[in-house]
Amino acid sequence: MAIRRILHYPDKRLRDPGQPVTEFGPALEKLVEDMAETMYAAPGVGLAATQIGEPIRLFIVDVATGDDDPSDLKVFVNPEIVKKVGTQCWEEGCLSFPGVHEEVERAEVVTVRAQNEKGEHFELEADGLLAVAIQHENDHLDGKLMIDHLGLIRRRLVHRAMSKRAASDAAAE
Ligand code: NI
Repeated sequence: MAIRRILHYPDKRLRDPGQPVTEFGPALEKLVEDMAETMYAAPGVGLAATQIGEPIRLFIVDVATGDDDPSDLKVFVNPEIVKKVGTQCWEEGCLSFPGVHEEVERAEVVTVRAQNEKGEHFELEADGLLAVAIQHENDHLDGKLMIDHLGLIRRRLVHRAMSKRAASDAAAE
């Protein structure tokens, strides 16, 4: 396993949509393992392949909260959200926007169809934080980011803060 480098906004690769996964096998399973290690090390509750520069339709989530709550890794390959009900607001973060937390409105309950890392099809209904994480990560596969859900002023503030951070990171390298 290996920890992969997470792309930070405004890296343009975050805007690349993921392509459907057609090959299941050891390479995909290795990528899922790397993504899990990367997500847990960060730490975060979700990670999309597009965030580590792999433009394919794959994301993982684990919304377990820690010590008393055993880990619950869920893998979504070629996901499709087929039903959305209601609305809810959460303060979201994103591993591609370190230090940024913004309130985003999402559906309250979602039904998602996907495949696991072995290619087996499944359907899942989720609510609460799991529903938020699924919608957030699924957005990544379309090159859509948290910032796109914000109003104009918040969007500009976050864009400016992240651009400044990227410039100082580049200067430090
Ligand atoms: Ni994200």
